[in-house]
This record gives sequence, structure tokens and C-alpha cells, in this order.
Amino acid sequence: MGFLAVFLLWLLSLSRAKALSNIGVNYGQLGNNLPSPYLSIELLTKMKAGYVKIYDANPDILNLLSTRKLKVSIMVPNNQVSDIATNPSAAEEWVRNNVLPYLPRTKIRHILVGNEVLSSNSEEGRQTWYYLVPAMQMIKRSLKALNISSIKVGTPMAMDVLESTFPPSRGRFRYDIRDNVIMPMLNFLNRTNSFFFIDVYPYFPWSQSPYNISLDFALFRGGIRIRDPGSSLFYTNLLDQMLDSLIYAMSKLGFSNIPIAISETGWPNSGDINEPGANIFNAATYNRNLIRRMTRNPPLGTPARPGVRIPTYIFSLFDENQKPGPGTERHWGLLHPDGTPVYEIDLTGKSAADFGPLPAPENNLPYRGKVWCVAVKGANEMQLENALTYACNQSNVSCDALAPGRECYEPVSIADHASYVFSLYWSKFRSHGATCYFNGLAQQTISNPSRGSCKFPSVTL
Ligand SMILES: *[C@@H]1O[C@H](CO)[C@@H](O)[C@H](O)[C@H]1NC(C)=O
Ligand SMILES: *[C@@H]1O[C@H](CO)[C@@H](O)[C@H](O)[C@H]1NC(C)=O
Ligand SMILES: *[C@@H]1O[C@H](CO)[C@@H](O)[C@H](O)[C@H]1NC(C)=O
Ligand SMILES: *[C@@H]1O[C@H](CO)[C@@H](O)[C@H](O)[C@H]1NC(C)=O
Ligand SMILES: *[C@@H]1O[C@H](CO)[C@@H](O)[C@H](O)[C@H]1NC(C)=O
Repeated sequence: MGFLAVFLLWLLSLSRAKALSNIGVNYGQLGNNLPSPYLSIELLTKMKAGYVKIYDANPDILNLLSTRKLKVSIMVPNNQVSDIATNPSAAEEWVRNNVLPYLPRTKIRHILVGNEVLSSNSEEGRQTWYYLVPAMQMIKRSLKALNISSIKVGTPMAMDVLESTFPPSRGRFRYDIRDNVIMPMLNFLNRTNSFFFIDVYPYFPWSQSPYNISLDFALFRGGIRIRDPGSSLFYTNLLDQMLDSLIYAMSKLGFSNIPIAISETGWPNSGDINEPGANIFNAATYNRNLIRRMTRNPPLGTPARPGVRIPTYIFSLFDENQKPGPGTERHWGLLHPDGTPVYEIDLTGKSAADFGPLPAPENNLPYRGKVWCVAVKGANEMQLENALTYACNQSNVSCDALAPGRECYEPVSIADHASYVFSLYWSKFRSHGATCYFNGLAQQTISNPSRGSCKFPSVTL
């Protein structure tokens, strides 16, 4: 081989080495059908992800990552936050057990303390608010004691830490956490040169007001410019508005230079009937446009903070079938559980807009009409029976119609009986937050399952 050929090969390998994206991916594991950590990391590597964020400090995953270039973000679970805040040896032990064994080969760059702790509103959750910053300080102190300076400590927060977000210049932190939690947190992040990690989903404000917010504005599809009368800045997309509301909120407390990192963002590729705009077309459009923006050189930044790079983790690697809540929760994945892509995506942002055609959405507007909640086809009969027994045992749920001789007794099948009970339960408790999920046993339908005199209760959207 001539010198030139060797040189070219070397150049090629160099450009490959550099081809890792600065985009990260959240790797959640709340599915019972997901590939092994080994295969998952293979997939992440093939996708050229530059960063991966996990929701714990799983030793298998951290060991596997030791042979990879990916930079890594790990997490202290919420239920350890108060212990770590109050017990110096707990913090040190956590770092010794979950960080030290993997350095430097596993490129741990962020330790996130808790996950959306400030969004947790239960009695116990609220108590954890006040331990959050002390726990972050303890972890930082433990790292320092071990001479580890390459790891930033932060905590992912959701947009509900703000009580006002629109227009962005009116951005303001929630009053109940502002003085006791946010102020010390901003002090900590500023002093340690860390990031304000924010989980920011334009999908949620859009899907709650699809008639008021343009879908194009949420999907970065140009043509719209909205002026913020407070700042006179112009906005071309919803993500920038949301990020800038945070930047304004921080500035009002005297911190105008804390960098932002997006710990989660994305768009659901499917969802329940009552969740508009959750489809492959919109998910691909959002994530592709997001990646192109966030990988631009020089960086775009936002109107309030132009030219600043924003580290971004997409949510998420896989559809996770064991996440509770509405249908969208189980459909944020870039990949199906078998590892095939839900849609083509280039994390390096280099591909032009020519990925090939996607299924066009029939409708992005909310469904209006009746919806029933029925058993998923092929659901496990034993699990259906347990769910049925549980639901029928609630004080407000009467399953009398299923008794022998009554109108819903026939056909005598567990799936049919469960469908009746799911519809009944959901229609009763939806206003109290119940979803049509039942651990994956139930799904919504717009086709009326009633038969003869057996009338299934429905929910009207
Ligand atoms: C940290 O660094 C200091 C100074 O370089 C050294 O004295 C100390 O032993 C180191 N501590 C650890 C735990 O490595
Ligand atoms: C934030 O940190 C910078 C640089 O360390 C410092 O100059 C500034 O005073 C800090 N801001 C606040 C509000 O503490
Ligand atoms: C959305 O628009 C409707 C009228 O089209 C208006 O009544 C409502 O207040 C708007 N909601 C928001 C959140 O702006
Ligand atoms: C039914 O409910 C009662 C009281 O709420 C409870 O004690 C009992 O264990 C329940 N039975 C089943 C089968 O869930
Ligand atoms: C369920 O029944 C209780 C009384 O037994 C009542 O207080 C409650 O409001 C009912 N809930 C619903 C959703 O109907």
C-alpha cells in the first residue's frame, strides 16, 4: 500500500472517530421486551450517539460503556436523595460504589441527583425538595475528596418548576420553591460551573392547546415569528420560547450565565385516542429538526442567549412498554424494542431532509366523541382476571351486570368481562386521574363494544 493510501485510511479513521454526535440519548429500561444492555449499547454506538444518559448507575451498563467513546450521565435515585443529603458517609459510599470503579475508562461526565424531584407533590416528595441541593453538594464534595474534577453535578427539572412561561420574558420560578430550593441550587450550579438540566417537551403545551399553538411552531417548521413584547425578541419555535422562559427566570434571581442542558426532549410516535399529534410523522419531524438545530456550527443558541451550545439528550432510545400513564408514555422511542428504527434518524444531523417518505398523519387535531376502554387482544387471562377482581372490588364499581343471567354475562369470556369492567372503571375514575392502561392490559377504542342490552359505559372527549 502506498503512502497516500495509508494516509487516506488514517484520515478516514480520524473522521470516523470524530463523527460522534454531540447529541445524547436517554436509555430507559422500563420495558419487559428490551434488548440486553450489550445490544442496546451496540445500537447506540451504531447510531453515533455522543452521550448516553441512564436513570441509575447500572453496573452492567457502566462496565459495557468502558470500551466505548460515549460520554455518560448517571443518576442517584430519588429514594436515596435524603440519605445522601444528611449522611456524609452515604454520599461518599455512593460515589465509591457507583463512580470510582468505572473511571476513567467509562467516561462519566454528569451525575444527576434525583429525577424531577421538584415535580413530586406527594407528602414524601415534597420533603425531598429540601434535601435536593444538600445532596448535590454532598456528591460534589465526595467527588472533590477523591480528586475527581471532570464530573458535573446537576439535577433534571421539569418545566413545572416555572409558574410563568409565556411570553418568555415573563418566565418566573414557582413561588413555593423559589427561595428555599431554587436560590441555593442556582448558587451551587453557578459556583460549580454546572448546567441547569431541564426536561423540556414542546409536545405537552402544544397537545394541551392544539388550537392555540401552531403545530408547525412546535415542530420547528418555519414561517412563524412570534414577538415577545417584553423583550422585543422574535421566536420561530416553541422550544426556544420554553428555554428562554427558564433563562429569564434565572436572570430575575441574579443568575444570567448558568448554562442550560436539555436532559430530556422528544416527541411521542404514538399514543391514546385522546392524545393528539402523537404519530411517527411528527416525532420524526421534531427530532430531525431538533438535531439539525442542536448540531449546527457555530451553535444557534436561543434568542435570549444566541450562539451558545445546548447539550441535548433525546428521550428516548426505546419504546418502553412498562411506563404507566397515558399511551404516549410508552411511545417516545427512536427504536422499537427489537432494535429496528421507528423512523430513520441521523444523530449527527448531517443528513439532508431526504430520509424517504413517512406515514402521513390522518389528523393532528384532538378526537371528539365517545371512547371505550377494552382489553388488549391476546392479553394474559390470569392478569385480566386479577385486574377484573381488583376493579370490581372498588366501592364505587358495580359489576352486577356480569353475574350469571344478567345482561353482560354472555359471552362468558374473561376478555369480554374485563373489557366491560375496564370501560366502567375508566368512565368512573377518569376525572380522578385514572388512565385506560391497567398495566398494559387495556387500550382505548372508538368502536362501541356494547352488544344487545349490555351497554358499555364510555368516556366522551
Ligand atoms: C488528591 O490530590 C492531592 C494533591 O494532589 C493528594 O494529596 C491526595 O492524596 C489526593 N487524594 C486522593 C484520594 O487521591
Ligand atoms: C456566578 O459565578 C460567577 C463566576 O464564578 C461570579 O462572578 C458571579 O458573581 C456568580 N453569580 C452570582 C449571582 O453569585
Ligand atoms: C385558546 O384559544 C381560545 C379561543 O380560540 C381562548 O378562549 C383560550 O383562552 C386560549 N387559551 C390559551 C391558553 O391561550
Ligand atoms: C377487596 O377490598 C377489601 C377492602 O377494601 C380488601 O380487604 C380485600 O382484600 C379486597 N379483595 C380483593 C380480592 O382484592
Ligand atoms: C366513591 O364512593 C365514595 C363513597 O363511598 C364517594 O365519597 C366518592 O366520591 C366516590 N367516588 C367516585 C369517583 O364516584
